[in-house]
Amino acid sequence: MASITIRNLDEATKQLLRERAAHNGRSMEEEVRHLLRDSTQAPASFPAEPAIATVSPEIFDPLELDGKRILLIITGGIAAYKCLDLIRRLRERGASVRPVMTEGARAFITPLVVGALANDKVFLELFSREDEQDVGHISLARECDLVLVAPATADFIAKMALGIANDLASTIVLASNRPLLVAPAMNPIMWAAAALQRNMQQLRADGVHVIGPMRGEMAESGEAGTGRMAEPLDIVAAVRGLLAEAPGTISGPLTGKRAIVTSGPTHEPIDPVRYIANRSSGKQGHAIAAALAALGAQVTLVSGPVTITDPPGVLTVHVETAREMLDAVEQLLPADIAVMVAAVADWRASGEAGEKIKKKPGEAPPPLQLTENPDILKTVGHHAKRPALVVGFAAETQNLIDNAKGKLQRKGADWIVANDVSPAKGVMGGDRNHVRIVSRSGVEDWPEMDKTSVAARLAEKIAERFETTEV
Ligand code: C5P
Repeated sequence: MASITIRNLDEATKQLLRERAAHNGRSMEEEVRHLLRDSTQAPASFPAEPAIATVSPEIFDPLELDGKRILLIITGGIAAYKCLDLIRRLRERGASVRPVMTEGARAFITPLVVGALANDKVFLELFSREDEQDVGHISLARECDLVLVAPATADFIAKMALGIANDLASTIVLASNRPLLVAPAMNPIMWAAAALQRNMQQLRADGVHVIGPMRGEMAESGEAGTGRMAEPLDIVAAVRGLLAEAPGTISGPLTGKRAIVTSGPTHEPIDPVRYIANRSSGKQGHAIAAALAALGAQVTLVSGPVTITDPPGVLTVHVETAREMLDAVEQLLPADIAVMVAAVADWRASGEAGEKIKKKPGEAPPPLQLTENPDILKTVGHHAKRPALVVGFAAETQNLIDNAKGKLQRKGADWIVANDVSPAKGVMGGDRNHVRIVSRSGVEDWPEMDKTSVAARLAEKIAERFETTEV
């Protein structure tokens, strides 16, 4: 039997299976194989598994990418090792992964291990007689639902931007008419280089979807900054979002418009295990991203850590901190619309401790020094590439309208959606919202409604604004 496809299980059984698989550190497919093998060897006497004391940190639907064919191009960077996990994560969700490796990639990981994890042949050479007879490069480019380049090196990005096709990987990219998702990974100085950024602008203008890179430690000792490849699970989430419904393919009044939405809280690390956070659930921001996509906009959602799922038809980029959120948003400019809904932490701990801060008997608690975070809305509102429409939120517990008017001015926004987040209102984390739209022309008071309805009405208002004004 080559593979197992699990269908038609009821939710409770699926959940048990997920927990059992996570507990045993196996994919769902592997878990089912174990169960089947055990049951044939010793019918009706399953080996006693230890009780599951904790909830699995990672629960997923094993069919969420069922039948999706991912062509994975691995280029030559140290982050190539993360691809091995990426392949596993894609496959355990039901996707098939067909790997292509550049010569550079082979300096970091071997085709043998990639092929074993992908359970497929690894394609290496453009002019390989064997491969071309088997599956030609044009077929490789087309017989997939999405082309994913991870990691994408500076060199490969430059080739993509220029349309150079001098090896199998670059030829496939040029020959493909499938959605293309790129996960750059490189040294922070290379990432910041003007030439690289020019190439990234070109890729975005060509409709290529980009995830990351993220801020953090580099593989080179002592190097830190923006350049780490996005984490495999975040790449998987982006793949799922792109395949759920190709973003920007719905036709509506916002067709052709590019929107950026921020959502959720941010987590600001104090040390490797502790962080500063807030109660934002992301429900309102995610609903706005989905509502804009439903009117035809091409939406990228930049989400802080939330427990809700990525909205369909939207490319979701996951970040943790305010600085990562700002990086992600700035990389997405220019855009037509920015709706900044995230409850960004105003402050972060100055100097994150490299090790867990220990409690020492008899000593006073350590002081927590704070530094101001960048204001993303304000940066976007005053940016050289400012979107034509910039919308901010104001979550207040007092002087709602006055504070919102002040924010409109200070942050360079066109509208502020003001809501009262006093605990008694239950807005933070709740499903309903009562908002006022504050603009330079006045205040609109909307009745209380659920967050999805607020989102739909706001998206309609945005569409009207684009219809009536040449923005
Ligand atoms: O100043 P305040 O946090 O109340 O402003 C709220 C608005 O500003 C929201 O739209 C929020 O997303 C945005 N904001 C931001 N970056 C910050 C703080 C707030 O984008 N650091």
